Amino acid sequence: MMENLKTVHYNNSIVSGKIEVPGDKSISHRAIMLGSIAKGKTIISGFLNGEDCLRTIDIFRLLGVSIDRQGTDVTIDSPGINNWKTPTEELYAGNSGTTARLMLGILAGANISSAVLTGDESLSVRPMNRVTKPLHAMGASITSEIDNDLLPLKIEASSLAAIDYTNPVASAQVKSAILFAGLHAKGTTIVREDTLSRDHTEQMLSHFGADVRSNNGEISITGGGSLNGTTVHVPGDISSAAFFMVAAAMVKDSSLTFTNLGLNPTRSGILDVLGNMGAEINVMDESAENGERTGNVTIAYNKVLPTEISGSLIPRLIDELPIIALLATQAEGTTIIKDASELRVKETDRIAAVTNELTKLGANIEATDDGMIIQGPTVLAGGTMDSYGDHRLGMMAAIASLITTDPITIKDSACIDISYPTFFEDLEKVVGK
Ligand code: S3P
Repeated sequence: MMENLKTVHYNNSIVSGKIEVPGDKSISHRAIMLGSIAKGKTIISGFLNGEDCLRTIDIFRLLGVSIDRQGTDVTIDSPGINNWKTPTEELYAGNSGTTARLMLGILAGANISSAVLTGDESLSVRPMNRVTKPLHAMGASITSEIDNDLLPLKIEASSLAAIDYTNPVASAQVKSAILFAGLHAKGTTIVREDTLSRDHTEQMLSHFGADVRSNNGEISITGGGSLNGTTVHVPGDISSAAFFMVAAAMVKDSSLTFTNLGLNPTRSGILDVLGNMGAEINVMDESAENGERTGNVTIAYNKVLPTEISGSLIPRLIDELPIIALLATQAEGTTIIKDASELRVKETDRIAAVTNELTKLGANIEATDDGMIIQGPTVLAGGTMDSYGDHRLGMMAAIASLITTDPITIKDSACIDISYPTFFEDLEKVVGK
């Protein structure tokens, strides 16, 4: 990764006004994927132009799908999954776990002779066997030259049969890969999950006309049908908004309103936690489009309280835990985060990274096997913070500079483009610069 450094310091600024954050990353990926699987035209508005989602577009272009992107509007014209072409180049997923894992499920049932899926340094050490194991059970031909099914992986054509699978990790990526494979398998595939993970795949499969059903952690899909193109609106990403929500909840006298924000209940755990941590929250104008709830939300500062985050709440805010840890350093008392060992296999080991970087600033934070224990409040100093090439660590560092006594220098801040290319512009806007 490049050693690009960025120094920021936004202390003494209140956070206020209105903001519409860019489109949801998870929904943007799925809109491209289903628009490419379906035959005909799909029109997407509000697409996230983050690096991860651009990798998904690149891959489908190599499979022979025509994708035209004008700002946040995307038009897909696809011959349908049965008429894709065998790619002549490797399919590069970059840093994107969602691209890699969901593509494995899609490619397993695609009508192409073979494809090779690769990723960057971080993705190449992230576990793929959580996906290849159930896909192998369906009859998929996926092989790696490295132990444990790490990338690169070669996918060859094979016919798939339905399975009934209990997902041992609360992972939407695993669930989605199996459902995508199930779309082209013989019979009805069932995925069972004890703890509900984000359900964007189920919502969008249904929107595109697939025979998918979901009932209390049991999701089934019957293979064989074909999907037709449609229109998709992508709402703002609550995981991106979370950085500014925490900013508003952390800086005295702040109040910030988010418009067109995704409020899917499987993603909105951050609102529960901010409420428990004392912030004032007002949710307004709720509506739904293509199965996704949206609305406007105002977050205002109040005295920050400690909290405990565990169990079924974890998958509803898994990507928000780094920025929640920062807020917890300002709470009077002990915040406990547990049942979150998944953080260890994200873009970087987020338990180790968050603990290291906040400790550098003077926070009282301890890493546990499956979470963190944070004792507040502490005054945070400035200094250099490493993003570890992880977009969410980079954004946490920038938000920390709202309360640090000295500037923060972020190592490799460019990685923020992965999910939020306009992050610094939006940050300057909400702090009135
Ligand atoms: C995602 C699911 C989550 C999340 C990731 C996006 C998705 O990962 O951390 O940023 O779009 O399905 P897991 O499903 O592995 O928990």
